[in-house]
Amino acid sequence: MIGILDVDELEEGTSRGLEVNNLYLFAVKKDDKIHLYWNRCPHLGTPLEWEEDRFLDADGALIQCSTHGALFQISDGHCLFGPCKGKSLKSVPFVIENGIVMVEDSLLTPPGQR
Ligand code: FES
Repeated sequence: MIGILDVDELEEGTSRGLEVNNLYLFAVKKDDKIHLYWNRCPHLGTPLEWEEDRFLDADGALIQCSTHGALFQISDGHCLFGPCKGKSLKSVPFVIENGIVMVEDSLLTPPGQR
């Protein structure tokens, strides 16, 4: 397992972009729960953030793609509005051990090095 984020470092209602081995993910903390997704819009496959670590809409209620404005539920990544409506962000399985978000090594190994 690889530790990718200290849970206490992420403030409630905010998001954080993460890069491991040239793979891009992001985390959101909402209602004291961590959500982890690949940073890839299901519409065109682009990164989602507006600026560094800014993945949420103005209210912090939904994840918003900066390219065409698609809106996704934080809880499950489901797209509610926009060109990829009905599709979902791909979540990344993780466990929290001693306050650190841990992901399986195999998920964070770039294709070709597996
Ligand atoms: S690339 Fe995200 S909505 Fe089009």
